[in-house]
Amino acid sequence: MLSSVLSKQLTKSITSNTLKMASCHFSKIFVQGLSGKKHVVEFEEGDTLYEAAEENGIKEIMGVCGGNMSCTRCQVYVGEHKDKFAEADEDELDALDRAFKRQDDSRLACALELNDDVDGVTIIQAPRKN
Ligand code: FES
Repeated sequence: MLSSVLSKQLTKSITSNTLKMASCHFSKIFVQGLSGKKHVVEFEEGDTLYEAAEENGIKEIMGVCGGNMSCTRCQVYVGEHKDKFAEADEDELDALDRAFKRQDDSRLACALELNDDVDGVTIIQAPRKN
């Protein structure tokens, strides 16, 4: 009798914890700052890099426009991972035209939506004009 009750409680606990883990899935991306230090940024699919960095306390790629694609200070280089992200829309491309040291792989963190395909990749912070 006692082992049956314990067994049911254990099964209920395992099921509950498994459901919690399944509903709280985070992936990781790495952001290499200008100092060379790599920061781990946990994210949920659909977050922008800017939102995820902010939630993880990573200030290096924060801009001054509050994530509104106007200051371009959140510019990052996505390198060989460019095709893993959705293409930049016209608003982002217009903003990138004003970005300092823009490259072919430049994106704005405030427009760059993260997905599970980018789990584990490293993104480089672009230099900024002083
Ligand atoms: S935060 Fe200003 S352009 Fe992204």
